[in-house]
Amino acid sequence: MSKTIFELENLSYSYLNKFPALVNINLKIESGEKVALLGANGTGKSTLLHILDALVFPDTGRIRFFGRDLNENAFNDEKFSREFRRRVGLVFQSPDVQLFCPTVKEDIVFGPLQLGVTQNEIKKRMDRLIEILNIRDFINRQPHQLSVGEKKKVSIASVLIIEPEVLLLDEPTAGLDPATCRQLLDLIDDFHAQGKTVITATHDLHMVPELAEGLRILNKERTITADGSCQEILANQDLLKQNNLVHIHKHRHDGSWHKHPHQHSPT
Ligand SMILES: Nc1ncnc2c1ncn2[C@@H]1O[C@H](COP(=O)(O)OP(=O)(O)OP(=O)(O)O)[C@@H](O)[C@H]1O
Ligand SMILES: [Mg+2]
Repeated sequence: MSKTIFELENLSYSYLNKFPALVNINLKIESGEKVALLGANGTGKSTLLHILDALVFPDTGRIRFFGRDLNENAFNDEKFSREFRRRVGLVFQSPDVQLFCPTVKEDIVFGPLQLGVTQNEIKKRMDRLIEILNIRDFINRQPHQLSVGEKKKVSIASVLIIEPEVLLLDEPTAGLDPATCRQLLDLIDDFHAQGKTVITATHDLHMVPELAEGLRILNKERTITADGSCQEILANQDLLKQNNLVHIHKHRHDGSWHKHPHQHSPT
Protein backbone atom coordinates (compact mmCIF):
# COMPACT_ATOMS: atom_id res chain seq x y z
CA MET A 1 0.00 0.00 0.00
CA SER A 2 1.38 3.40 -0.93
CA LYS A 3 2.03 6.06 1.67
CA THR A 4 1.78 9.80 1.26
CA ILE A 5 5.30 11.28 1.31
CA PHE A 6 4.52 14.93 0.74
CA GLU A 7 1.25 16.72 1.36
CA LEU A 8 1.00 20.44 0.60
CA GLU A 9 -2.09 22.39 1.60
CA ASN A 10 -2.87 25.93 0.39
CA LEU A 11 0.85 26.61 0.31
CA SER A 12 2.17 29.99 -0.88
CA TYR A 13 5.68 31.38 -1.03
CA SER A 14 7.13 34.74 -2.15
CA TYR A 15 10.74 35.81 -2.43
CA LEU A 16 11.52 38.80 -0.17
CA ASN A 17 7.79 38.95 0.58
CA LYS A 18 7.17 40.64 -2.73
CA PHE A 19 7.88 38.28 -5.63
CA PRO A 20 5.28 35.51 -5.62
CA ALA A 21 6.74 32.16 -6.66
CA LEU A 22 4.06 29.68 -5.51
CA VAL A 23 0.39 30.48 -4.98
CA ASN A 24 -2.06 28.28 -3.13
CA ILE A 25 -0.47 24.95 -3.99
CA ASN A 26 -2.30 21.75 -3.11
CA LEU A 27 -0.29 18.65 -3.88
CA LYS A 28 0.05 15.08 -2.71
CA ILE A 29 2.95 12.82 -3.65
CA GLU A 30 2.67 9.13 -2.86
CA SER A 31 5.62 6.88 -2.14
CA GLY A 32 6.92 5.24 -5.34
CA GLU A 33 5.47 7.87 -7.68
CA LYS A 34 7.39 9.07 -10.71
CA VAL A 35 6.03 12.52 -11.35
CA ALA A 36 7.03 15.57 -13.37
CA LEU A 37 6.30 19.19 -12.57
CA LEU A 38 5.78 20.92 -15.89
CA GLY A 39 5.53 24.62 -16.49
CA ALA A 40 6.92 27.51 -18.49
CA ASN A 41 9.85 29.59 -17.24
CA GLY A 42 9.16 31.34 -13.96
CA THR A 43 6.08 29.30 -12.99
CA GLY A 44 7.61 28.09 -9.72
CA LYS A 45 8.99 24.62 -10.52
CA SER A 46 12.39 25.15 -8.90
CA THR A 47 10.84 26.91 -5.92
CA LEU A 48 8.47 23.98 -5.43
CA LEU A 49 11.43 21.56 -5.42
CA HIS A 50 13.20 23.81 -2.88
CA ILE A 51 10.08 23.67 -0.70
CA LEU A 52 9.99 19.83 -1.02
CA ASP A 53 13.68 19.75 -0.05
CA ALA A 54 12.93 22.04 2.94
CA LEU A 55 15.46 24.63 1.78
CA VAL A 56 12.76 27.26 2.17
CA PHE A 57 9.55 27.17 4.14
CA PRO A 58 6.10 28.39 3.08
CA ASP A 59 4.80 31.88 3.98
CA THR A 60 1.30 30.46 4.37
CA GLY A 61 -0.20 26.99 4.19
CA ARG A 62 1.66 23.86 5.16
CA ILE A 63 3.82 21.02 3.93
CA ARG A 64 4.00 17.62 5.60
CA PHE A 65 6.56 14.86 5.09
CA PHE A 66 5.19 11.46 6.12
CA GLY A 67 2.65 13.37 8.21
CA ARG A 68 5.19 15.59 9.99
CA ASP A 69 5.11 19.36 9.45
CA LEU A 70 8.19 20.64 7.64
CA ASN A 71 9.08 23.95 9.25
CA GLU A 72 12.07 25.59 10.98
CA ASN A 73 11.09 23.87 14.19
CA ALA A 74 11.32 20.38 12.70
CA PHE A 75 14.86 21.13 11.49
CA ASN A 76 15.95 22.25 14.96
CA ASP A 77 15.65 18.55 15.77
CA GLU A 78 19.06 17.29 14.63
CA LYS A 79 17.95 13.67 14.37
CA PHE A 80 15.02 14.57 12.13
CA SER A 81 17.15 16.93 10.04
CA ARG A 82 19.78 14.24 9.40
CA GLU A 83 17.14 11.62 8.63
CA PHE A 84 15.39 13.97 6.20
CA ARG A 85 18.67 14.73 4.37
CA ARG A 86 19.35 10.99 4.11
CA ARG A 87 15.93 10.28 2.68
CA VAL A 88 15.51 13.22 0.27
CA GLY A 89 18.07 14.40 -2.30
CA LEU A 90 17.85 17.36 -4.69
CA VAL A 91 19.82 17.87 -7.89
CA PHE A 92 19.77 21.64 -8.40
CA GLN A 93 18.98 23.25 -11.74
CA SER A 94 22.38 24.95 -11.70
CA PRO A 95 25.31 22.65 -10.85
CA ASP A 96 27.28 25.72 -9.68
CA VAL A 97 24.97 25.89 -6.65
CA GLN A 98 25.62 22.23 -5.84
CA LEU A 99 29.39 22.00 -6.23
CA PHE A 100 31.58 23.78 -3.72
CA CYS A 101 34.52 21.47 -2.86
CA PRO A 102 38.09 21.83 -4.20
CA THR A 103 37.80 18.61 -6.27
CA VAL A 104 35.08 16.61 -8.00
CA LYS A 105 35.83 13.59 -5.81
CA GLU A 106 35.41 15.60 -2.60
CA ASP A 107 32.10 16.97 -3.86
CA ILE A 108 30.81 13.48 -4.57
CA VAL A 109 31.77 12.02 -1.18
CA PHE A 110 30.72 15.08 0.84
CA GLY A 111 27.07 14.03 1.37
CA PRO A 112 27.64 10.40 2.43
CA LEU A 113 30.54 11.43 4.71
CA GLN A 114 28.25 13.93 6.45
CA LEU A 115 25.66 11.20 6.86
CA GLY A 116 28.12 8.73 8.38
CA VAL A 117 28.24 6.18 5.52
CA THR A 118 31.32 3.94 5.87
CA GLN A 119 34.40 4.57 3.68
CA ASN A 120 34.08 1.13 2.07
CA GLU A 121 30.47 1.68 1.15
CA ILE A 122 31.22 5.18 -0.18
CA LYS A 123 33.97 3.79 -2.39
CA LYS A 124 31.68 1.06 -3.74
CA ARG A 125 28.90 3.53 -4.55
CA MET A 126 31.33 6.05 -6.04
CA ASP A 127 33.03 3.52 -8.33
CA ARG A 128 29.66 2.46 -9.72
CA LEU A 129 28.53 6.05 -10.38
CA ILE A 130 31.88 6.99 -11.94
CA GLU A 131 31.42 4.16 -14.44
CA ILE A 132 27.77 4.82 -15.21
CA LEU A 133 28.18 8.58 -15.59
CA ASN A 134 31.58 8.27 -17.28
CA ILE A 135 33.28 10.87 -15.08
CA ARG A 136 36.58 9.12 -14.27
CA ASP A 137 38.65 11.46 -16.42
CA PHE A 138 37.94 14.49 -14.29
CA ILE A 139 37.49 13.02 -10.82
CA ASN A 140 40.55 14.87 -9.44
CA ARG A 141 39.85 18.20 -11.16
CA GLN A 142 38.30 21.37 -9.75
CA PRO A 143 34.56 21.45 -10.44
CA HIS A 144 34.64 25.04 -11.69
CA GLN A 145 37.03 23.96 -14.48
CA LEU A 146 34.46 21.60 -16.00
CA SER A 147 31.98 22.13 -18.83
CA VAL A 148 28.31 22.66 -17.91
CA GLY A 149 27.35 19.08 -18.84
CA GLU A 150 30.32 17.64 -16.90
CA LYS A 151 29.33 19.68 -13.83
CA LYS A 152 25.76 18.43 -14.19
CA LYS A 153 26.96 14.82 -14.16
CA VAL A 154 29.01 15.48 -11.01
CA SER A 155 26.08 17.10 -9.25
CA ILE A 156 23.86 14.11 -10.17
CA ALA A 157 26.54 11.74 -8.77
CA SER A 158 26.80 13.80 -5.57
CA VAL A 159 23.10 13.21 -4.88
CA LEU A 160 22.70 9.64 -6.15
CA ILE A 161 25.58 8.49 -3.93
CA ILE A 162 23.39 9.24 -0.90
CA GLU A 163 20.88 6.68 -2.24
CA PRO A 164 17.92 8.76 -1.10
CA GLU A 165 14.36 7.43 -1.02
CA VAL A 166 13.07 10.53 -2.78
CA LEU A 167 14.96 12.05 -5.67
CA LEU A 168 14.16 15.65 -6.64
CA LEU A 169 15.55 16.56 -10.06
CA ASP A 170 15.53 20.10 -11.44
CA GLU A 171 15.88 20.06 -15.25
CA PRO A 172 18.17 17.00 -15.01
CA THR A 173 18.66 16.49 -18.73
CA ALA A 174 19.47 20.12 -19.58
CA GLY A 175 22.97 20.39 -21.01
CA LEU A 176 23.56 16.63 -21.30
CA ASP A 177 24.58 14.98 -24.58
CA PRO A 178 22.20 12.30 -25.95
CA ALA A 179 24.20 9.29 -24.70
CA THR A 180 24.56 10.74 -21.18
CA CYS A 181 20.89 11.64 -21.21
CA ARG A 182 20.06 8.00 -21.98
CA GLN A 183 22.29 6.78 -19.13
CA LEU A 184 20.62 9.20 -16.75
CA LEU A 185 17.12 8.11 -17.82
CA ASP A 186 18.15 4.47 -17.25
CA LEU A 187 19.54 5.37 -13.81
CA ILE A 188 16.26 7.10 -12.93
CA ASP A 189 14.34 4.04 -14.14
CA ASP A 190 16.44 1.70 -11.98
CA PHE A 191 15.94 4.01 -9.03
CA HIS A 192 12.17 4.02 -9.56
CA ALA A 193 12.10 0.24 -10.08
CA GLN A 194 13.46 -0.10 -6.52
CA GLY A 195 10.20 1.47 -5.28
CA LYS A 196 11.72 4.92 -4.83
CA THR A 197 10.06 8.24 -5.63
CA VAL A 198 11.22 10.59 -8.39
CA ILE A 199 9.97 14.15 -8.78
CA THR A 200 11.35 16.02 -11.78
CA ALA A 201 10.88 19.64 -12.81
CA THR A 202 11.12 20.23 -16.53
CA HIS A 203 9.68 22.01 -19.52
CA ASP A 204 11.15 19.50 -21.93
CA LEU A 205 8.13 17.58 -23.21
CA HIS A 206 10.33 15.18 -25.19
CA MET A 207 11.72 13.76 -21.96
CA VAL A 208 8.48 13.68 -19.99
CA PRO A 209 7.20 10.22 -21.00
CA GLU A 210 10.51 8.73 -19.80
CA LEU A 211 10.78 10.84 -16.67
CA ALA A 212 7.25 10.53 -15.35
CA GLU A 213 4.02 8.60 -15.15
CA GLY A 214 2.05 11.43 -13.55
CA LEU A 215 2.21 15.15 -14.39
CA ARG A 216 1.33 18.37 -12.58
CA ILE A 217 1.28 21.61 -14.54
CA LEU A 218 2.19 24.94 -12.96
CA ASN A 219 0.67 27.92 -14.78
CA LYS A 220 1.67 31.57 -15.05
CA GLU A 221 -0.32 32.34 -11.87
CA ARG A 222 2.21 29.96 -10.25
CA THR A 223 -0.35 27.47 -9.09
CA ILE A 224 -1.14 23.89 -10.12
CA THR A 225 -3.60 23.96 -12.97
CA ALA A 226 -3.64 20.29 -14.02
CA ASP A 227 -2.95 16.96 -12.42
CA GLY A 228 -3.16 13.74 -14.41
CA SER A 229 -1.37 10.93 -16.14
CA CYS A 230 1.35 11.60 -18.65
CA GLN A 231 -0.85 10.18 -21.38
CA GLU A 232 -3.87 12.39 -20.57
CA ILE A 233 -1.93 15.62 -20.20
CA LEU A 234 0.36 15.22 -23.20
CA ALA A 235 -2.70 14.50 -25.36
CA ASN A 236 -4.31 17.80 -24.29
CA GLN A 237 -2.84 20.19 -26.84
CA ASP A 238 -4.99 23.14 -25.68
CA LEU A 239 -3.71 22.82 -22.14
CA LEU A 240 -0.11 22.57 -23.37
CA LYS A 241 -0.53 25.61 -25.63
CA GLN A 242 -2.11 27.68 -22.85
CA ASN A 243 0.92 26.92 -20.72
CA ASN A 244 3.63 27.70 -23.30
CA LEU A 245 4.61 24.05 -23.43
CA VAL A 246 4.17 23.43 -27.14
CA HIS A 247 6.88 24.40 -29.55
CA ILE A 248 5.82 26.44 -32.56
CA HIS A 249 7.89 25.20 -35.48
CA LYS A 250 8.69 27.33 -38.46
CA HIS A 251 9.40 25.39 -41.68
CA ARG A 252 10.02 26.22 -45.29
CA HIS A 253 7.78 24.29 -47.73
CA ASP A 254 7.79 24.92 -51.45
CA GLY A 255 9.60 28.21 -51.02
CA SER A 256 7.34 29.71 -48.31
CA TRP A 257 7.42 29.64 -44.49
CA HIS A 258 4.80 27.79 -42.39
CA LYS A 259 4.28 27.76 -38.64
CA HIS A 260 2.55 25.01 -36.67
CA PRO A 261 2.64 23.61 -33.13
CA HIS A 262 4.96 20.66 -32.68
CA GLN A 263 2.98 17.54 -31.73
CA HIS A 264 4.22 15.24 -28.99
CA SER A 265 3.26 11.62 -28.79
CA PRO A 266 2.26 10.59 -25.24
CA THR A 267 3.69 7.11 -25.74
N1 LIG B 1 15.96 34.63 -5.66
C1 LIG B 1 14.82 35.15 -6.15
N2 LIG B 1 14.44 36.42 -5.82
C2 LIG B 1 13.29 36.93 -6.28
N3 LIG B 1 12.44 36.26 -7.09
C3 LIG B 1 12.78 35.02 -7.47
C4 LIG B 1 13.99 34.40 -7.02
N4 LIG B 1 14.04 33.16 -7.54
C5 LIG B 1 12.93 33.02 -8.29
N5 LIG B 1 12.16 34.13 -8.25
C6 LIG B 1 10.88 34.34 -8.93
O1 LIG B 1 9.98 33.30 -8.53
C7 LIG B 1 9.23 32.83 -9.64
C8 LIG B 1 9.39 31.32 -9.77
O2 LIG B 1 10.76 31.05 -10.07
P1 LIG B 1 11.31 29.58 -10.27
O3 LIG B 1 12.78 29.67 -10.39
O4 LIG B 1 10.75 28.72 -9.20
O5 LIG B 1 10.63 29.20 -11.68
P2 LIG B 1 10.88 27.95 -12.63
O6 LIG B 1 9.52 27.43 -13.01
O7 LIG B 1 11.83 27.00 -12.01
O8 LIG B 1 11.55 28.64 -13.91
P3 LIG B 1 12.63 28.05 -14.97
O9 LIG B 1 11.86 27.16 -15.93
O10 LIG B 1 13.12 29.28 -15.66
O11 LIG B 1 13.69 27.32 -14.23
C9 LIG B 1 9.70 33.63 -10.85
O12 LIG B 1 8.77 34.62 -11.14
C10 LIG B 1 11.02 34.22 -10.43
O13 LIG B 1 11.24 35.48 -11.02
MG1 LIG C 1 13.68 26.31 -12.55
